[in-house]
Amino acid sequence: MRRRVILASKNRGKLLEVRSILSDLEVEVVGLEEFPEIPEVVEDGESFLENARKKSEVISKLTGELVIADDSGLEVDALGGRPGVRSARYARDGASDEENNLKLLQEMRGIPLADRKARFRCVMVLSSPDGRWWATEGIWEGTIAEEPRGSGGFGYDPVFFLPELGKTVAELTSEEKNSMSHRAKALESMKKLLRALLSEEKREA
Ligand code: IMP
Repeated sequence: MRRRVILASKNRGKLLEVRSILSDLEVEVVGLEEFPEIPEVVEDGESFLENARKKSEVISKLTGELVIADDSGLEVDALGGRPGVRSARYARDGASDEENNLKLLQEMRGIPLADRKARFRCVMVLSSPDGRWWATEGIWEGTIAEEPRGSGGFGYDPVFFLPELGKTVAELTSEEKNSMSHRAKALESMKKLLRALLSEEKREA
């Protein structure tokens, strides 16, 4: 029987990506859309780990099931790691992607290429209702472009430049992005953890 795992997200794209990467495990991944009674968990932590752990633990306790949650964002060296956990609301609460990108490009104006290093970071936490939890991390290195390019993806993709490909992430196909993103890397490590947990459960059954 397939073990059910809840993904703490209502984002359909994320759900499909997670299902695809975990498709060779005996798990059925369901999104939060199927649990309308679960209240929104506020992401008010100081780190990606704090936010992802809070989300997965709260929902695991409420449902009594295994829960995977992630938190991610952009860290820019020249800005001391900002926008970081504030990536979604960098320009202001409720900011659009365009507003956030504009603010970032303005702050980076005049900074030479050598000092424009940045990374996307994703932290993923798996929580079990017995209180145990495990975390994985994925990092994607790049630089901040001088102007936006490309129309794919979301968030900071048009300004996140990959020097080795000569493209921004918004110029990649979604297959290309999903094969190398910070989220894909965190998820590949999560797959190893889940596989070990499932075989532990089988041994104990
Ligand atoms: P979340 O972890 O999905 O809530 O992402 C938080 C914020 O980080 C998003 O609103 C984006 O601003 C940024 N972010 C995370 N992952 C990506 C990505 O793959 N591309 C572009 N922006 C991202």
